[in-house]
Amino acid sequence: MKRYIDELNSLELKGQMRQLRNSADYSELINLSSNDYLGIGATLSESSNKYDSACSSRLLTGNSDLYFQLENTIETQYGKPSLFFNSGYHINIGILPAVTNKQDLILSDKLNHASIIDGLVLSNANIVRYRHNDLYQLEQILEKRRDDYDNVFIVTESIFSMDGDKSDLKRLVELKNKYNCFLYVDEAHAVGVFGEKGLGLSEELNLIPQIDFIVGTFGKAYASIGAYVVCNDVFKKYLINKSRSLIYTTALPDNVIAQNISNFTKVLNMSEQRNDLRKVSHRLRSEFIKKGIKSLGDSNIVPVIVGENKIAVELAEHLQKLGYWVFAIRPPTVPQNSSRLRISVCANTSWESIQELPNIIFDFISKY
Ligand SMILES: Cc1ncc(COP(=O)(O)O)c(C=O)c1O
Repeated sequence: MKRYIDELNSLELKGQMRQLRNSADYSELINLSSNDYLGIGATLSESSNKYDSACSSRLLTGNSDLYFQLENTIETQYGKPSLFFNSGYHINIGILPAVTNKQDLILSDKLNHASIIDGLVLSNANIVRYRHNDLYQLEQILEKRRDDYDNVFIVTESIFSMDGDKSDLKRLVELKNKYNCFLYVDEAHAVGVFGEKGLGLSEELNLIPQIDFIVGTFGKAYASIGAYVVCNDVFKKYLINKSRSLIYTTALPDNVIAQNISNFTKVLNMSEQRNDLRKVSHRLRSEFIKKGIKSLGDSNIVPVIVGENKIAVELAEHLQKLGYWVFAIRPPTVPQNSSRLRISVCANTSWESIQELPNIIFDFISKY
C-alpha cells in the first residue's frame, strides 16, 4: 500500500487532494459551480424539495447527503469503506487504470465481463488473461512472474455472467496471500442473490475482509442503477483522486440514490426469495441435464449451450413464439461455437411457468 499512501501524501503537500463534500453544507450559498445552465435542476429541487438533480460531478456540487447515507449503509453491512459510482461499467473501467502502472501486472479470468476488459485496455499495466477458472494456470503464472512486477492484481467475477458458474474465491484468497497480490472481485451477479444478507459470494464464504475490491452493481438484483466498490480507506481516498470515471462524470440524481438506499436495505432481508431462487434454478438446471441438454453453472443464471449461432437464434425465436422472453447470446459476448440461451431465473419465476422448457428445448434440439 506504500505507493498509494505516498502518492496521497504528495497530493496533500501540493494542495491537490480531492475530497467528496456534502452539497447540503453549501445549500445557503449562491451556486456558481453546477452545470444546471437553464436552471431546470433548481426548479425541480424547489418543487419536490427533496430530490435535487445533480448537474455536476460528485467532486463538485453533485454530492448530496444521500450519497453519504448510501455509502454509510453499504459500509455498515460490509464493515469496510465503500465508494459509489454511476454504474458497474464506470467502476470496471475506472478502478484498474487508476491503481495500476507500467510496473504492475493484472491477471484476469478469460471470461471476465466486457467492462473489465475495457478497464484492462485503459490501464498501463501488463496484462495476462488466464484460462477460465483455471487457478492451476494462475498459480503457475504467479510462480514464474510475480517477482518481475511491483503490484499484481487478480481480477475475477464471482458469478460469471454468461456461464452462471462460480469462481473459487477461497482459493483465490489463498493465492493472493501466498503471492502478495490484490484481489478484485466483481460480484455484479452475486449481490442480492448470495450471502445471508445478499452481500454476495464473499459474504457467503466469510471472505469480505480478505478481498481488496468487492464490486456490486445496483443494475441487477437491486433493480436500480449505480454501483459500489468496497475497499480499504487508502484505496477509497486514492480512487476519489485518481479514478477518471468517478471524477469526470455527472453524479446520478438524488431520487436514484434514495431508491438505492431503499432497495439495498430491503434486499438485506430477502433470504426467503434467495432460497426460492436457488430452488427453482437448481430444479431447472437438473431437468436440463437429465434430458441431456448442455447447461453450465451453479446459480440462477442457467445457460443452455447450443453451439451454432443459427440454431441458438432459431431456438430463441421458437421460444419467444411460445411465450418465453429469452435471447440467443453469440460471440463475441461468449466464445466461438458456444452460442447459447442465457436463461436468467428470478425469485418470482414459478416452477409451473417454466416446467415445459426442458421438453420444448429437447424437442427442438433433437431435430438437428
Ligand atoms: C459482471 C458484470 N460486471 C459489470 C457489469 C456492468 O454493470 P452496470 O450495468 O451497472 O454498468 C455487468 C453488466 O452486465 C456485468 O455483467
